Amino acid sequence: MTPYLRPNIAAMQGYVPGYQPPDIATWIKLNTNENSYPPSPKVREAILAELGSDGARLHTYPSPSSQHLREVAGELYGFDPAWIIMANGSDELLNNLIRACAAEGDEVGFVHPSYSYYATLAEVQGARVRTFGLTDDFRIAGFPERYEGKIFFLTTPNAPLGPAFPMEYIAELAERCAGMLVVDEAYVDFACFNVLELVKRYENVVVTRTLSKSYALAGMRLGLAIGRPGIISALDKIRDHYNLDRLAQAACVAALKDQAYLLDCCDRIRDTREWFSSKLRLIGYEVIPSQANFVFASPPDRNGKRVYDGLYDRRILVRHFTDPLLCHGLRISIGTRPEMETTLTAIRDIG
Ligand SMILES: Cc1ncc(COP(=O)(O)O)c(C=O)c1O
Repeated sequence: MTPYLRPNIAAMQGYVPGYQPPDIATWIKLNTNENSYPPSPKVREAILAELGSDGARLHTYPSPSSQHLREVAGELYGFDPAWIIMANGSDELLNNLIRACAAEGDEVGFVHPSYSYYATLAEVQGARVRTFGLTDDFRIAGFPERYEGKIFFLTTPNAPLGPAFPMEYIAELAERCAGMLVVDEAYVDFACFNVLELVKRYENVVVTRTLSKSYALAGMRLGLAIGRPGIISALDKIRDHYNLDRLAQAACVAALKDQAYLLDCCDRIRDTREWFSSKLRLIGYEVIPSQANFVFASPPDRNGKRVYDGLYDRRILVRHFTDPLLCHGLRISIGTRPEMETTLTAIRDIG
């Protein structure tokens, strides 16, 4: 073990992202909840305009605060720009929120199963992790009347399972949390409601969003958080001062402004999700009703790995987790209708 490192860093495994195959175009890729549709065509135009004919603007730094973006996002979501921060993917915000709230030895909480990156972030910070399971009616099992952890991450809609927690339940959690409640709404554009109004109601609630899923911009790395100005200015102190490059800022403005494109894209994915879920149920799969751009589905023999392998052999990538709570099923991102038809045919063929 190298002596220069903090022991927890030397000992930790690190987060393992979903597989990104080098020959990506030869796969149907349904393993990381990306969007199979392209981003709004206005994004390309905006990037090219920002680049200019000779890339001349790239020699100066971008706006350190992404100020214009905060204004655009503020108008879209109904918040003053002082309540908004932009980031290089929402992962950056999750990272900085934990750095801002939890010191070494402090408690950090989240639901298991949910986004496993929270555990990695806690490990880096040297924080203690407390996880909570889910009840059959999709509530948090054993959540205390008063939760004293410094920060609690709530993924809603839940990943990898798909359902969303009801708004009033999340409000109740905000009241029961002594520390910060981070509502990770990475998938919320595919759901029927969001909880932004809770940011106005509760000073300890921060909502994080990403442009990686609904806006089809995973490759640009764009995210944002909405919270009280005091929290936002703390996050501003921690972040890299030029956290969004010029092209990302231009892309983000164009994407956020093209709401018609976003809504159409999300509608299509929701329709395909419902169609695909119903077809899987017809062949005996258990499919958890999803509010996201993926479904968690278990084959009748509850052998998720067998179906994963069969799909892999047919160059269809889905996500299988070895976690005992999840290994019976698969998380399958919802791609285009033709991609999902091919996937369904393959699943029938695998049997
Ligand atoms: C629940 C959840 N939160 C956050 C993220 C990270 O998103 P981003 O690409 O914006 O970093 C993901 C990515 O898969 C996710 O599933």
